[in-house]
Amino acid sequence: MIESQMKKPPFNETSTDERFVEALGRWAETAANLSWVEQWVEGAIFPCEMVFFLARCEQLDIDVVIESGRQDGYSTMILGEFIKGREKQVYSIDYEADAERARRCRERLKAYSSVIPVKGDANILLGQLVNQVAPRKVAMLVDGPKGFWAIALMFACSGNTAVKLLALHNLNRGEAPGKLLGGLANSPLYYEDVVRQSPASWLRLRELERLHCERLGARRSLEYSSLGVMEVADRNRKNIVRKTSWHFRLHQPPLVRMAWKLGLFWPTNRLFDLSNRLFNK
Ligand SMILES: C[S@@+](CC[C@H](N)C(=O)[O-])C[C@H]1O[C@@H](n2cnc3c(N)ncnc32)[C@H](O)[C@@H]1O
Repeated sequence: MIESQMKKPPFNETSTDERFVEALGRWAETAANLSWVEQWVEGAIFPCEMVFFLARCEQLDIDVVIESGRQDGYSTMILGEFIKGREKQVYSIDYEADAERARRCRERLKAYSSVIPVKGDANILLGQLVNQVAPRKVAMLVDGPKGFWAIALMFACSGNTAVKLLALHNLNRGEAPGKLLGGLANSPLYYEDVVRQSPASWLRLRELERLHCERLGARRSLEYSSLGVMEVADRNRKNIVRKTSWHFRLHQPPLVRMAWKLGLFWPTNRLFDLSNRLFNK
């Protein structure tokens, strides 16, 4: 377990803490009622990780979720349930490289009128969408790209004060991207370190998920989650937006942010391409 994260209290204010626990129990119950576990497919974010993310969104009164990485739309469908009948919106970005798969996914999401699928590159679209929806409170859920690439994009977006919550999938414990994020977070990133009072519905969902995913031979740890969720608050925003690291290569968040401010979305995309070509051979 990462030491820097363990020392952090789950949350600071008891009232928001109670709200989180209540939302966690309620969404865990919804997950069971709507068979989210049975619908899970390999590669998708686990149901418990999604429930944790939804509870954090409720705790912070999030209005808009911007997702990057939709694929078959499993996580997007859950986001659709989250905003159903409320004054909230979801934008979901994907390359849609496989046209038939993308068509099926869009068909699946038709039931959710406030979910807006967007085709294109997150390198360009994330910054543009945040500007478009601000000042409404934004949470970002990124499941493609991954690692430092995704972190650079999320940090650059955090220059806009509308961004309140960042979530990144496949952020494995003990690995460098998780350590960097954990070092800047005000509370632990993973639900195992946050959830202290476990509502019965949450415990039931965890067990259901474990049994189901074990049966399917899930290729990810069922013991530790890998969705890192981090609040961007007044006290850590500056450090997040200014963060530089050799891990970011050419796409340093302050540089990306500055270029976006000048409207240079397409040229900034070249930084990511160039970084990938030079360093990820
Ligand atoms: C693991 S899948 C997403 C699964 C989905 N979140 C779920 O839980 O059901 C990753 C997706 O990210 C998309 N992706 C990766 N990098 C991207 C980028 N830079 N821009 C847009 N889409 C991207 C891929 O096309 C792929 O469909």
